[in-house]
Parts: sequence; structure tokens; C-alpha cells
Amino acid sequence: MRTKVTKAIFPVAGLGTRFLPATKSVPKEIMTLVDRPLVQYAIDEARAAGIKEFIFVTSRGKGALEDYFDNAPQLEAELRKKGKTELLEILKSTNMDSGEIAYMRQHKPLGLGHAVWCARRLIANEPFAVILPDDVIAAEKPCLAQMVEAFEETQSNIVAAMEVPDHMTGAYGILDVKDDMGTIVSTKGMIEKPGPGLAPSNLAVIGRYILTPTVLQKLNRKEAGAGGEIQLTDAIDAARESGEEVYGYRFQGQRFDCGSKAGFLQATVAFALARADLRDDLWNYISDVVHSEKAAQ
Ligand code: UTP
Repeated sequence: MRTKVTKAIFPVAGLGTRFLPATKSVPKEIMTLVDRPLVQYAIDEARAAGIKEFIFVTSRGKGALEDYFDNAPQLEAELRKKGKTELLEILKSTNMDSGEIAYMRQHKPLGLGHAVWCARRLIANEPFAVILPDDVIAAEKPCLAQMVEAFEETQSNIVAAMEVPDHMTGAYGILDVKDDMGTIVSTKGMIEKPGPGLAPSNLAVIGRYILTPTVLQKLNRKEAGAGGEIQLTDAIDAARESGEEVYGYRFQGQRFDCGSKAGFLQATVAFALARADLRDDLWNYISDVVHSEKAAQ
């Protein structure tokens, strides 16, 4: 029988040090691309892929995240009173139903693999998705929905993958490709943050995964890997070593690394330019900046 993916883990317990001092009090995942927090893009993508249970792995200082998903009755009443129906609808669309969202606490930032392991009891014995909200993907068909479709065929581990230049391979988990079938590749290994000259390919894993419960079992070992952290990549590769398939999936769409300042700024411009209400003003501003920069050179 083919299994469906209905649960997703959102690991959001990292320290977000690249955004200090902002992340001293604001969780990175609450920072906004135009007017929506990163986490809203992640939830919308998960929903579009058929996810019904949303499991957040949080940490100290992430209270704003839990508040964000609560209903806001006072605000709603105020908007209703003022007849601001459009805003009211936007606000209501962010509400989560009771029971569809759960929070687990990761008490120490021991790594992404450890964060996923913290949610193991809520996953039990089913395949599950993992979404890193700081990887934002602009795509006609949302990335996770593309992967869920592939999973319906493979019923095996699938990681989102994209080509990166040689000098960037050390920043990612890199796939050792067995068979390249185009959109999908099968793998014979996976190395987290390979040192110079050690990357087996240029195909990097980014923050979308569909995994089997075997990966959670492998995480039980709590073995530290690259950077002294418990790495999700290592557990996925251990599942492969024990006989499961691990596929890389070349998704359609543009990925923005919103965990970095440059990526966040690029995403802000791209998402604002895609909005009819902002496009013209922003475009005129950018054109002016480019002209004055050129004139000054
Ligand atoms: P990052 O490597 O981006 O780390 O984590 P970070 O702490 O969020 O940010 P920087 O590097 O200090 O700026 C990738 C994802 O894994 C989660 C993060 O929340 C992010 O979604 N994560 C990482 C955890 O949930 N727990 C961890 O122990 C580590």
C-alpha cells in the first residue's frame, strides 16, 4: 500500500546568529519577506503539499512564533468594526486549527538532526516531511508538492537538491550520485560540508526532505558529525547504508537562502517585485539607484 505524507517537522530551534542583534529577541522565522513572516511561507507550502499536522521544534525565546499562530480575536473584532474585510481575511488565513499544530522543545542546539529527533514521538512510524523555513522557494508548483508527487512513486527518502558552484559545496550536504535520471538522482552517499576537493558532486541538499521513520531510528545514535553537530544528512545516509533508497530531487523554482543576509535581501526584492501593489514603486527606486551608481563610477 502506498503511504501518504501528512506530517511535517519545522525545525526552528537554531540560534540564528547570522542575524544578530535582531535575533536576540526576534526569532529568525518571524522576520518578514514583505509582510509575511518566513514561517508563513513554509506553512503555506506544506499545506499545498497535503500536510495536515505541523510540528515545530522550538527553543527558548521563540514565543513570538507560537503567538503568531494563535487567533487574534481583538484584532479581528477591530478590523470587522472598521469594515476592513480584506485585511480580516488575510489575518484569518493565518489562523491554525486547534490540534493541527504542535510544539516540541529542543533544549540545546545540538544540530538539525537532533532537532528532528526531538519530534520522533509525534511522527511514530510514518514517512514525514522536514521544512527549513529559512530556505524559501519561489515556484509555480510549491517545492514540497513536487516532492510529494515524486514520493508517491518512490516511497523512499527524497531530499531537495540544487547545483551549487565549486566554492559553495563546503556549505552544504553534497550528494554522491549513483544514477542521474534528470529530475531525480539515486545516491550512493551524502557528505555534510565536505572539505576542499572532497565534494563528490555539485548537487547540494537544501531545506526540504521527505524521510522514512528509519532516519529517526538512525538519529537515536545521537552521533555528532560535521561542526560537532548531530547532522540530519548523516542519519539519512545511514538509512541508505541499511538498504533504503535516498533520492535527490532537482526541484523547479528559485531558492533563496534566507538564513543569510544577502539571501534574505534578494528574496525581499524578488517577492516585492512579484506583488502588483509594490512592483512599480520598487522598480522605479531600483532603477534610480542603479543609474546613480553607474553615474558615480
Ligand atoms: P542553521 O544552520 O541556519 O543555524 O540551521 P541557525 O542557528 O538557524 O542560524 P545561524 O547559522 O546561527 O545564523 C538550519 C535550520 O536548522 C534549525 C534552524 O532553526 C534552521 O531552521 N536548527 C539548527 C535547529 O532547529 N536546531 C539546531 O540545533 C540547529
